[in-house]
Amino acid sequence: MFDTNTIEKFRDIPTPFYYYDVKLLKNTLDNLKEESVRHGFRLHYAVKANHNERILRIISSYGFGADCVSWNEIDAAIKAGFNPAEIVFAGVGKSDLEIINAIKAGIFCFNCESIPEMEVINEFAVKEKKTVRVALRINPLIDAHTHKYITTGIAESKFGINTWDLEAVLNRLNSLDNLKLIGIHFHVGSQITRLSVFKTLCTHINELQEWFSSKNAELKVINVGGGLGIDYDDPEKSPVFGEYFSLLREFIDLKPGQEIHAEPGRSIVGQCGTLISKVLYIKKGSNTNFAVIDAGMTDLIRPALYQAHHKIENLTSNGEPVRYDVVGPVCESSDTFAKFIVLPETKRGDIIAIRSAGAYGEAMASRYNLRNLAPAVFSDEL
Ligand code: LLP
Repeated sequence: MFDTNTIEKFRDIPTPFYYYDVKLLKNTLDNLKEESVRHGFRLHYAVKANHNERILRIISSYGFGADCVSWNEIDAAIKAGFNPAEIVFAGVGKSDLEIINAIKAGIFCFNCESIPEMEVINEFAVKEKKTVRVALRINPLIDAHTHKYITTGIAESKFGINTWDLEAVLNRLNSLDNLKLIGIHFHVGSQITRLSVFKTLCTHINELQEWFSSKNAELKVINVGGGLGIDYDDPEKSPVFGEYFSLLREFIDLKPGQEIHAEPGRSIVGQCGTLISKVLYIKKGSNTNFAVIDAGMTDLIRPALYQAHHKIENLTSNGEPVRYDVVGPVCESSDTFAKFIVLPETKRGDIIAIRSAGAYGEAMASRYNLRNLAPAVFSDEL
């Protein structure tokens, strides 16, 4: 909910822009910190969800680590105050330079996905005269019951090592002198709202633990990845961190001395961000009214790419309800934020809020059509 004071201030700011509610973000982080401490989790914020510098600074101030998928993310995280010793580096395609930089930076661990990758990391570790900590990312073959583009742990996924290849991977790893196996890593998918998916993951982790024990491979770290979903219908609702952590603690059989790690992204930053836009034109279509706004898929690609639903509000009209297709100015039919939704009667100049846009919004923006990148505005700077 935006108060009238905030909405008045929005009128004077050129649109589109990302508005971040700092208080909400901090409340979310307070809650996350409390629950993670209560349940004994070590957290690495998934920087890919939002790499805005101020957001990173706020999150790092809570003492969390970072989960990064490129050297640029690692670099941005370190510059924003994250401790390199709490940074994990994931991804199927780490480049040579990224590997070298990450080794030099002394990150916590590489989440590895294949034998060739481990061989390359070892080669550079030898050159740097360092021992590099490695966790094996395993494909758990679990359907995350989410959109297929953000399902990452099924047979056709490019991510992770298949369990039937683990023996060969472990043997090779044991022969690479400068790598040290510290744990196993998973990520089943993103925007997971059925907690039972994580329960299935726990069963899988327990089976794998037995297998690793039988091979005398010691695992200090169990990293369950990210994926906890948010409520896109209700942007005011906080993620269920407590339930999520307690389920994982209840169903994973941690061995003495083992640590449990997680990599939340969306659940931390999703609800604090809103894309604020203005209506350019109302255009009559053959069977609908188009509300053409000045934000487009270049600012928030999720609806175009995943048919994602974001709640849309007209902040400046109290008119009668009317149906609209809310569309952007980009020259693509997929540049549509919502079809056939009800808004109070909308006119040129009205302010439109696209909610729950803090995760994978600004971070996925592009300059297609040579559009400008939407700037960020923070609630405490208004
Ligand atoms: N860890 C790994 C290894 C990941 O691949 C991801 C997300 C995360 C953690 C964080 O997941 P989260 O807690 O945010 O669900 N662009 C898509 C989401 C892609 C997620 C990719 N991996 C979207 O807009 O929905």
